[in-house]
Amino acid sequence: MSDAERPHILPVDPVRPEPERIAIAAQAIRAGQLVAFPTETVYGLGANALDEEAVRAMFAAKDRPPTNPVIVHVADEGGARELAADWPEAASKLAARFWPGPLTLVVNKTRAIPDVVTAGGSTVALRCPNHPVALALLRAAAVPIAAPSANRATMISPTTAAHVLVSLRGRIDFLLSAGPAERGLESAVIDVTVDPPVLLRLGPISPGALRGTLGVAVALPTKQFFEQRPARSPGMSRRHYAPQAILLRATGDGRRDVERLVSGGFRVGWIRIGSSSGQAALPPTVHVIEMPDDATLYGAKLYAALHTLDAMPVDQIVVGEIPSDEDWLAINDRLDRAGAAPQNDDRSDDRRT
Ligand code: TXA
Ligand code: MG
Repeated sequence: MSDAERPHILPVDPVRPEPERIAIAAQAIRAGQLVAFPTETVYGLGANALDEEAVRAMFAAKDRPPTNPVIVHVADEGGARELAADWPEAASKLAARFWPGPLTLVVNKTRAIPDVVTAGGSTVALRCPNHPVALALLRAAAVPIAAPSANRATMISPTTAAHVLVSLRGRIDFLLSAGPAERGLESAVIDVTVDPPVLLRLGPISPGALRGTLGVAVALPTKQFFEQRPARSPGMSRRHYAPQAILLRATGDGRRDVERLVSGGFRVGWIRIGSSSGQAALPPTVHVIEMPDDATLYGAKLYAALHTLDAMPVDQIVVGEIPSDEDWLAINDRLDRAGAAPQNDDRSDDRRT
């Protein structure tokens, strides 16, 4: 295949994926090729996790720094245990309750996992995704699949196959296209090698839900954790998951900020909960995206909204205030990161991957 023809797009049914199409993608994984596939969180870029060359090619396709380890996907808890040097009780409890699902467990790795996957670290992040296409691919390939989000290191995670193409056209071999990701936010990542476990990345499963299953509160990473070198979890650095346009978080619905920017001559994207019916009309240079007031639905739409506004393009994105309760924690976290100023302290790992 020439770069112009890559990737080969395979449309599949999201609920009952066609076995012959899954077989093509699975064969490609086994042959060391790169396959983007849907999960319930975001689309992933898959490579055979046991094939060092394939994983290197995946890092190259994403421009991902080799210092940022990737998540390994498995078909079930048994598959995860095979890759773990030990399986703490916390891992058993969390896997029983939340797998398949949007939770990634960091455990000590066995030698089967090449160092390139874990950025040289002794732990590996494991997840069993809750998506029929991802699970069918994992079963058919019969190898664990290393898969970060299927975006280039400078872009937002993809929640549709079209987003993958914008970012990775010409760089990957296959794309399983199966409609929008249901959750739209990356998995929660929890380190269970320590007691109590440490929640490294907020995600669709809340700290409260984790505490309910573990019987103890999870710890949040300390400032020192993020200052460790080599970085323990580089993808958690401050500016991450960011659109090209500058993002401003407003107090209130954001209308005042939008009006000020418009009068300054800027093209503005406005993400806000609810509709503006009954309010004064806005000029056509403002692109409004109305969001649901339910955290799960808002999370599912957020990255697609950012992708849309980046494609317009707009100069600045204003995001109206959202609730601060636990259901909204992961969304608040991603918006904080998307709005963080680019850092100039030369942290090579501070990339959006
Ligand atoms: O929902 C998701 O998790 C998606 C889908 C495709 O599964 N994947 C995803 O992968 O978001 P990625 O690579 O974009 O983010 C993985 C995060 C990064 O922040 C990385 O630093 C962290 O997990 N990570 C990976 N391995 C780790 C490890 N051994 N210890 C600590 N953090 C790790
Ligand atoms: Mg990512």
